Amino acid sequence: MNVQEPLPKEYQGLEPDELRERIQAAKRALGGRLVVLGHHYQRDEIIEHADYRGDSYKLAKDASRHPEAEFIVFCGVHFMAESADILTPESQKVILPNLAAGCSMADMASAFQVRRCLRELEGVLGPLEGKVMPVTYINSAASLKAIVGERGGTVCTSTNAPAAVRWALERAERLLFFPDQHLGRNTGAALGFDPDADMAVWDPAKPLGGLDPDTIRRSRFLLWKGHCSVHMRFTVEQIEEARRRHPGVRVVVHPECRREVVQAADLYGSTEFIVKTIRAGKPGDVWAVGTEINLVNRLAGEHPEQTVFCLDPEVCPCSTMYRIHPSFLCWALESLAQGRVVNQVKVPPEIAAPARLALDRMLELAG
Ligand code: 13P
Ligand code: SF4
Repeated sequence: MNVQEPLPKEYQGLEPDELRERIQAAKRALGGRLVVLGHHYQRDEIIEHADYRGDSYKLAKDASRHPEAEFIVFCGVHFMAESADILTPESQKVILPNLAAGCSMADMASAFQVRRCLRELEGVLGPLEGKVMPVTYINSAASLKAIVGERGGTVCTSTNAPAAVRWALERAERLLFFPDQHLGRNTGAALGFDPDADMAVWDPAKPLGGLDPDTIRRSRFLLWKGHCSVHMRFTVEQIEEARRRHPGVRVVVHPECRREVVQAADLYGSTEFIVKTIRAGKPGDVWAVGTEINLVNRLAGEHPEQTVFCLDPEVCPCSTMYRIHPSFLCWALESLAQGRVVNQVKVPPEIAAPARLALDRMLELAG
C-alpha cells in the first residue's frame, strides 16, 4: 500500500460545511488550472466537487480533455491516478488526495508474479507470441500495464472487456487475463466460451499456477485468481430474495460479481452502464443493484420516481475509495492553491512508455 502522511492537524475534525466552503474556495482560486475527477464509488461529499464523474474508462478519457489544466485531482483509487498520469501530457500533474486509496483487487497481482507466470507459460508453450496474449484489467498497477504493453497486449475496463477479449483472441490462441478472474470469466462466457472447458484459473501462489501442462494447452482463457471483495458480497440468494419481495424487480450487477450472480441477474455492466440503465428507467421501475453502495444510494436519491436499492442488505462501501475523505480533498486543493504540490502520482518514464501502449490500445477498442 502507498503511504500517506497524516493530515496536518488543522485539517482534522473540520465540520462538513466548513470543508465544503473551503473546497469550493480553493477550486475558485485555482480556476482553469484545475480539473477534479470523481469515480462513481466516491461519497456524495466528494462527487459534489467533481467536474467530471464516471467509471474508470470514462474518467481515463475525461482526464485527457483538458490539456490546458495544470492539475488533475483524481478522486478515485491509485491505479486510476496512474492511468491518468500516463495518458496526460508531462506538464500536467495528477494528484490523488489520499495516497492510501488503493484497490485490494489490483494488489492481487504484482509485476514479479506476472513475469514469473509468463516465464512458466513459456516453459510449457514455447515462445508466447501467437500463443498467449496478456490482457490486464485497468484495476492494476502501472508496472503490470507496462508488461502488457511490452508484450503487445491491451488494458481493458469493464466497459470494453468484450472488445478487448475478441481483439486478444484474434491475435493469440489464448489470453492471460488479470487480475480479476470474474470479469474475465463473465466476458468470455458472454462471447460463447465455456467456463469449464475453455477456462482455467491461474493461482499465482502455486507453481505453474496450480495447473497441469495439458490444461494450459487446451485453455483459451487463463484467469488470474483475483477478485473484488466488494462485488464478491453479492449472491444468488440475495437476488432470489429481491425477486420474492419485489415482484417485477430488475436486477443489474457489475461484471466483477461471480458468474452465477451475473447469470441470475437481468442485466450486467460497468458502473457507467448501471448509471445509464437506471437513468433510462421509467417511473415505478424497481431496481436491485449489485455494486458499490455510494453509487447505489446516489442513484436512489437521484431517481425518486423509481425504487433503487442495493442487493446486499448489509452494505459496505469500497473501503479504499472511501479513503478520499473531504478533509484530504480540502488539504490537497488548498496546498495546490498555495503553490505546494502534494500527493502527485508520477509514473516513471520507463514504466509509463510501455504502459501507454497498452492504454492506447484500450482507448482504440470501442466500448
Ligand atoms: P468501473 O470500470 O466500472 O469503473 O469499475 C471500477 C471498479 O473498481 C469496480 O470495482
Ligand atoms: Fe478495487 Fe473492488 Fe474497490 Fe473497485 S470496488 S476499487 S475493484 S476494491
